[in-house]
Amino acid sequence: MPLLELNNVSLSFKDQSLFENINLSINKGDKLVISGPSGTGKTSLLKLILGFIPGFEGQISFQNETITHHNIWKVRRSIGYISQDSDIGEGKVGQLIEDIFSLKVNIKLKPDPGKIKELFHFFRLEESTLAKDFEELSGGEKKRVAIIISILLKRDFFFLDEITSGLDDEVLKTVIGYFMESDHTAIIISHDKEWMKKQGVKEFKLN
Ligand SMILES: Nc1ncnc2c1ncn2[C@@H]1O[C@H](COP(=O)(O)OP(=O)(O)OP(=O)(O)O)[C@@H](O)[C@H]1O
Ligand SMILES: [Mg+2]
Repeated sequence: MPLLELNNVSLSFKDQSLFENINLSINKGDKLVISGPSGTGKTSLLKLILGFIPGFEGQISFQNETITHHNIWKVRRSIGYISQDSDIGEGKVGQLIEDIFSLKVNIKLKPDPGKIKELFHFFRLEESTLAKDFEELSGGEKKRVAIIISILLKRDFFFLDEITSGLDDEVLKTVIGYFMESDHTAIIISHDKEWMKKQGVKEFKLN
C-alpha cells in the first residue's frame, strides 16, 4: 500500500497550466528527488499535497484515504515540511523551540536539552545559535534549525524544498546523509547531484 499517491494531478494558475496529469506513488522509506527548471511548479506541488493550494484537478491519497479538507490535518501532522524560505518564526532560537513544544499538541514530545544539543552538534550548528535571533541566522542555519525541529517533532515523512542550497560541502553531506541513511520517507526538491548518488533514489522531473 503506497503511503502517498497522486493520480492525474494537474494545476493551473489563471488559466495557465503549470503541470498536467502527474502520477506518483510513494512507499514508506522511498526517497524521491523532484527536479526541473525554476518556475515549473516544484514548490507548488508540495504545497498542493499539504492542502495549501485549492483548485487543483485529480486525486491525492494519503495512507489509502483520499485527502479532503476533513482529513488534511492528518497529512500536515505527519509530514515535516521544510519550506524553501524556512521562515518558521521569530525570536531567539532556543525560545522558538521551547514555544513549539509548549503547544498542547506537541507537549508530549518536549525534548530534553541534551537531545537538542546533540542534534545541533550533529548538524554542525554552534550551541550559541540557540541564543541568537532566528531572523539573524544565515539561510543554511535556518534550514538546519527547521530540520532539527521536524526531527524533534518525530516526523518520519519529509518534504524538503531546496534544503541543501547554500550549504558548504561538509554540512551538505551531513544533511543528505541524515535523510538517506535512515528509513525516513522523503520528497526532496533539489538540483544537487549529491542526492542522486545514493542508492535507490528515485527521480521525477518537471519541465
Ligand atoms: N498562489 C499562486 N498564484 C498564482 N501563481 C502562482 C502561485 N504560486 C505560484 N505561482 C506561480 O507558479 C509558478 C511556479 O512556482 P513554484 O514556486 O511552484 O516554482 P518552482 O519550480 O518551485 O521554482 P523555483 O525552482 O524557482 O523554486 C511561478 O510562475 C509562480 O509565480
Ligand atoms: Mg520552489
